[in-house]
Amino acid sequence: MPQNSVIEGFSKFSKQDKVQWIADQYFQSSKDKAEEIQRYWLTDHEQQTIMDGFSENVIGNHILPFSVAPNFLIDGVLHTLPMVIEESSVVAAASSAAKFWLTRGGFKTTIISTTKLGHVHFTWSGNILLLQENQTFIIDHLMEEVAPLVSNMQKRGGGVKEIVFKDLSKKVDSVFQIEVSFETCDSMGANFINTVLEAFAAAFTNLSNSTDLFPADHRDVEVVMSILSNYTPECLVHVETACPVDQLGGPINDTDAITLAHKFKKAVDIARADTYRAVTHNKGIFNGIDALILATGNDFRAVEACGHAFAAKSGQYISLSSCEIEDGIFQFSMDIPLALGTVGGLTSLHPMAKIALEILGNPSACDLMRYTAALGLAQNFAAVKSLVTTGIQKGHMRMHLQNIINHLGLSKAEADLVNTHFRDKAISHSAIRTFVEENGKK
Ligand code: MEV
Repeated sequence: MPQNSVIEGFSKFSKQDKVQWIADQYFQSSKDKAEEIQRYWLTDHEQQTIMDGFSENVIGNHILPFSVAPNFLIDGVLHTLPMVIEESSVVAAASSAAKFWLTRGGFKTTIISTTKLGHVHFTWSGNILLLQENQTFIIDHLMEEVAPLVSNMQKRGGGVKEIVFKDLSKKVDSVFQIEVSFETCDSMGANFINTVLEAFAAAFTNLSNSTDLFPADHRDVEVVMSILSNYTPECLVHVETACPVDQLGGPINDTDAITLAHKFKKAVDIARADTYRAVTHNKGIFNGIDALILATGNDFRAVEACGHAFAAKSGQYISLSSCEIEDGIFQFSMDIPLALGTVGGLTSLHPMAKIALEILGNPSACDLMRYTAALGLAQNFAAVKSLVTTGIQKGHMRMHLQNIINHLGLSKAEADLVNTHFRDKAISHSAIRTFVEENGKK
């Protein structure tokens, strides 16, 4: 429904007035709707004030299920992974994959690197050689200027790792970059990186105006923007699972182990060759990754954007995971960039994010990278295994059936009837409604 007219000063309205405005604008029974929205406010006023502080124009809370997937054996230690996701069967699939690998060695991870990048993008009429030939002097000056901003991070073992000057002018007229590598320890580091980059930008502009280094006709540095890059291919974790092919069968599928191994590999190879399949395949990986990232108050948009760019690094978008069968060993693995934090930001403010991190034993950012990668691979394993054996709809629709039962508000007796009747039948909203109508409301 379109908005009736422009509203001025909405952000200054009280929260109550914002709710009322929405209810009046968009709903017939506005009083009821306002009350309905308010029912989702937290009764603990202090907690609700914290939630309201996360965003602007807040009128309520949007609730998603907070689930847990137990039995994840990661690097020899057992974990229960918190997951925030609305999609039926994702948590069940993760749990079953965890249990499957529990008796086959679990998930093994390696942190490959933890570097993040940011850039000062600027226009200039000069030559990159001038910057490169004088880089020691320029970098020393820039580092001096940001010393107070980086000292805390340095004490924690992080800070600025490297600065290089790059010439982008062949692609975008007159554009150059100061590319900065950062180590941000246990914080995701977006605020730290952006603050340091903006300080670099100001210091560099001043330097270009005030030293003889820059010839009089090349003192025209103009900063376009200073911003971290969410592409973090150097903040990378490797995760793998492996077992003898003949151990791949088991209680959760009937297909024989060798057939399963080869069909599974074929499915992964298809996702490495065909972008249409790769996107869906990787979406399955992110079902798990996003759920853990949301649960721990991390930025799932950043991780998704990066993961998809990484999947396309060869020039073609392909599967993030790969599968090998060699010398009778089935191996399923993935390298994935995950720029995560376990301190700062929402991680320490959102009450459920804090609980999620406590469940994980208040991990370091590196450990959270390990758990997240393991969950992504587990999710992928569960999805592909279903696809090549029973088909995805069996498990998925079982969960969906429960949602339809809830949606139709069926009694326990009706739900039992529906569950029995649809055990081996195709499930749809209308089929279930018709069945209930024909079999009478109880
Ligand atoms: C559904 O959310 C995810 C899957 O489509 C992933 C896949 O196809 O691999 C099942």
